[in-house]
Amino acid sequence: MTYRPAADRYSRMIYRKCGTSGLKLPAISLGLWHNFGHDTPHQVKRDICRTAFDHGITHFDLANNYGPPPGSAEEAFGEILKTDFAGHRDELIISSKAGYLMWDGPYGEWGSRKYVIASCDQSLKRMGLDYVDIFYSHRFDPETPLEETMMALDHIVRSGRALYVGISSYNSARTREAAAILKELGTPCLIHQPSYNILNRWVERDGLKETLTELGIGSIAFTPLAQGILTGKYLNGIPEGSRAVQGKSLDPATITPRAIESVRALNAIAARRGQTLAQMAIAWVLRDGGITTALIGASRPEQVVDCVGAIGNLDFTAAELAEIDAVAAEEDINLWARSSAE
Ligand SMILES: NC(=O)c1ccc[n+]([C@@H]2O[C@H](COP(=O)([O-])OP(=O)(O)OC[C@H]3O[C@@H](n4cnc5c(N)ncnc54)[C@H](OP(=O)(O)O)[C@@H]3O)[C@@H](O)[C@H]2O)c1
Repeated sequence: MTYRPAADRYSRMIYRKCGTSGLKLPAISLGLWHNFGHDTPHQVKRDICRTAFDHGITHFDLANNYGPPPGSAEEAFGEILKTDFAGHRDELIISSKAGYLMWDGPYGEWGSRKYVIASCDQSLKRMGLDYVDIFYSHRFDPETPLEETMMALDHIVRSGRALYVGISSYNSARTREAAAILKELGTPCLIHQPSYNILNRWVERDGLKETLTELGIGSIAFTPLAQGILTGKYLNGIPEGSRAVQGKSLDPATITPRAIESVRALNAIAARRGQTLAQMAIAWVLRDGGITTALIGASRPEQVVDCVGAIGNLDFTAAELAEIDAVAAEEDINLWARSSAE
């Protein structure tokens, strides 16, 4: 049956300005890192994307290497664009990235002009698009002059391959340098994509939020649910089918008894707020407007619906915030620390 998006979708979401740009993003965005490779039936991917769009999620985040195999998430999303989302391209903000290993040899990863532009072309081809809305440098490359990577991003915009550019997992100092180069080139940095959640607060220690506000750059926080740890699912052990049993990015050893104790206490605070833990974790990332949008992942459409419910209560009392700080210590879960340490 032909999919028709929910007529009331735009009243189900709130949209926030991305930094000082004219672009608004949904408070919750959907990422296709997991559950969009060949190991997931195509119908599940379609259902997740349809549910997201039905709830006003207009922003879909990809990268060259999402799969498995690398590239397959972009191919799957390209199919969805041709079928379910046909006729809706101008309602969507689609992003992709280059930075991590994509193909063999010296030109298949990091930040050279050679790699970044070739990878962008490959992403466009896989998705069947003329342009992406946002193209990112996925990680800081200590061996390539920052000017070269930023000039590649500028070229990608000037040549019509992307409308805006962003950077991911760059620390405050590198963000300032990158933003200054981009400004000089005439292509402003629209957005920064850092990992951020209650159990991973490097952006606060780094001062990144303040830097982005000062520079007028928007932000999209990835892994707001700590890959699922900040939900109720691991409270009674590791369930079948969950990300922690898939041998991918979530090492079960990181779900320590201490982390579970924190999650149990956070769950109780969420219940008092009338939220699920996933909803409270997303609201926490979005609190006080410092982050533009929370970038979630989902393995089922029902998870998207639950997460979107977060927008029902984005406010915290000072007492709630203090209690969250008191019960939840940081955990060693930041897989992207190397990029922001350079
Ligand atoms: N820039 C970067 O370097 C970078 C790195 C990583 C991610 N990202 C982006 O961020 C996106 C999100 O990352 P993520 O998937 O790790 O984020 P996440 O939202 O922290 O975790 C998503 C996982 O949590 C579980 N979940 C989601 N909603 C739930 C709910 N309501 N109730 C119970 N469980 C729920 C699901 O796990 P189960 O599979 O266990 O059901 C889901 O796959 C990625 O898709 C990607 O676009 C960017």
